[in-house]
Amino acid sequence: MKDQLLELEKRGNDEISAINDPSDLEPFRIKYLGKKGALTSLMKSLGKLSREERPEAGKLANQIKVNLSRRFQEVKTSIEAGKSGGATSVDVTLPGRVPLYGHLHPITQVIKEVCLIFSRMGFRVVKGPNVELDYYNFEALNLPKDHPARDMQDTFYISENVVLRTHTSPIQVRVMETRQPPVSVIAPGKVYRRDSDVSHTPMFHQVEGLLVDRDVSFGELKGTLTRFIHQMFGSDTRLRFRPSFFPFTEPSAEVDIQCVMCGGKGCRTCSRTGWLEILGSGMVDPEVYGFVDYDPDVYSGFAFGMGIERIAMLKYGIDDIQLFFKNDMRFLSQF
Ligand code: DAH
Repeated sequence: MKDQLLELEKRGNDEISAINDPSDLEPFRIKYLGKKGALTSLMKSLGKLSREERPEAGKLANQIKVNLSRRFQEVKTSIEAGKSGGATSVDVTLPGRVPLYGHLHPITQVIKEVCLIFSRMGFRVVKGPNVELDYYNFEALNLPKDHPARDMQDTFYISENVVLRTHTSPIQVRVMETRQPPVSVIAPGKVYRRDSDVSHTPMFHQVEGLLVDRDVSFGELKGTLTRFIHQMFGSDTRLRFRPSFFPFTEPSAEVDIQCVMCGGKGCRTCSRTGWLEILGSGMVDPEVYGFVDYDPDVYSGFAFGMGIERIAMLKYGIDDIQLFFKNDMRFLSQF
């Protein structure tokens, strides 16, 4: 009897140790510890033993039952703990995990908004190459090789005649070269200059605009840009056109808006002037038409260009341009 009991305990221990599937637990319990299980039936046969043998065998049987039960509980607990998070232990009261949503970079958002405003006025969005010929970036914009105004733009040269474009204006020339008037295009893109501080980065973004047709006047330039600024910054934004110079426009004007920080009273952002410069513009210089075969006696037009980072900084009150390029989520997620 004693041997039978010890043999049963050993088999039981071996079997329970091999279990790692929770569905094997209950069959094991029934087989060894259940009312009709192996241990119970052995215990029932204790009565057949002699009076001398019975107490010792009974005690052993009880001990084995306690041992196997405890072992069974241990294995059951560890299997269930190992499965936590699995189908058997989902906590349905936990709040759901919300996935992280991305969104467009603030610069992309501003580019899209500028393009949308001009698209509504009938301008078509076009693109041009970032690596540009000197001819398009300077020469055909009335900036010959020795022209002093080339110094205004610190150029990255790829070779003597190839540059990283310093502005989006070369796209004007490419458009006029391939299409006859009427043309009205808006051209966003990256531009490059050798410059880096709180208001300059070596790569930044511009949007260029060009409209050429018969009888286009400076009044239409003013009307178009006024409408743009009112849509971009709000319809009560005051603006002014200030005479300026660009080699590819004549006359030229820079456009200022009333300082968005101080409302025109004068502060650090506007250098106490109350005004902020936001774009360059002018009537296309007849010299430029000479490069693209437009007849200056028949056609006239206007062009403008603006820095996107600058517009974004003014619109959102940001004082460091580098923030747009550091990709710090704490900054980006505010837009
Ligand atoms: N390309 C000029 C710049 O980067 C901006 C500009 C001025 C563009 C006048 C124009 C314009 O189209 O008419 O500084």
